[in-house]
Amino acid sequence: MLVIHNKKELQKVLQSKVNKNCTIGFVPTMGALHTGHLSLIKRAFSQNEVTVVSIFINPTQFDNKEDLEKYPTDLRNDIDLLQTVSDAIIIFAPSALEIYNGDIASKKFNFNGLEKVMEGEFRTGHFNGVATIVELLLLAVNPTHAYFGEKDFQQLQIIKKLVELKKFPFKIIGCPIERETNGLARSSRNERLSKSTREEAGFIFKTLNSAKSKFGIENAKSITDWVASEFAKSKLFELEYFQIADASTLTPILKKQKNIKYRAFIAVYAEGIRLIDNIAL
Ligand code: PAF
Repeated sequence: MLVIHNKKELQKVLQSKVNKNCTIGFVPTMGALHTGHLSLIKRAFSQNEVTVVSIFINPTQFDNKEDLEKYPTDLRNDIDLLQTVSDAIIIFAPSALEIYNGDIASKKFNFNGLEKVMEGEFRTGHFNGVATIVELLLLAVNPTHAYFGEKDFQQLQIIKKLVELKKFPFKIIGCPIERETNGLARSSRNERLSKSTREEAGFIFKTLNSAKSKFGIENAKSITDWVASEFAKSKLFELEYFQIADASTLTPILKKQKNIKYRAFIAVYAEGIRLIDNIAL
């Protein structure tokens, strides 16, 4: 399995594939791979002649130092997992100085308000960090297709906007959320939950599903209040936000209208660990 740490070396390997007209599928990750990542990687692998997976914990997208320090890492385990898909996968694992060309800092972006709500409101600078690293990674890999999970739906919309604004030729593909058996959205952060809290965390998806069944019968405010009251009863889970929004502009809504797709978004703390999820309504 090829593990490359250097951009020039990666580009040399990929250029030989581009010369043979190969399509390149790219899955950016921060490592600590789980079956959610593997579903994206399998999709990239089945749709492209070459698959690149990047593993890089991006410091500029963390607004919380402790969250960054505690982010799980296990490159050996990641390689073993990737090998279960195929040992033809190319791993790109640069250092921060290498990928940031020596200057580890975020650029400032304007995504027409997509970056201001929900995660943008509660995690200062987060999307500047995400957009900076995704741009650097896309330019380093130069893929035909790049795959992102819908668990980070707001991130996915922002990356689509980034590609549109920069007129990049890469096709961005959103992939459905993978869930644990109790419905908890798969995330590297789940590893940090205690066994019992992880089991109880199905409550988050259960509440999203109930909100979905209320949508169209009750208005957004009453559903939002109901979600808040459900979480107020819980000793384990603390609600940061619940928001019903237009799925393309991410603007909060009050009343359902025809021909618009809606989504409900949630962020919750459990044992100090921040979990996010969303559902199409
Ligand atoms: O979704 C993630 O894991 C990260 O935000 C990404 C896209 C790899 C950028 O660091």
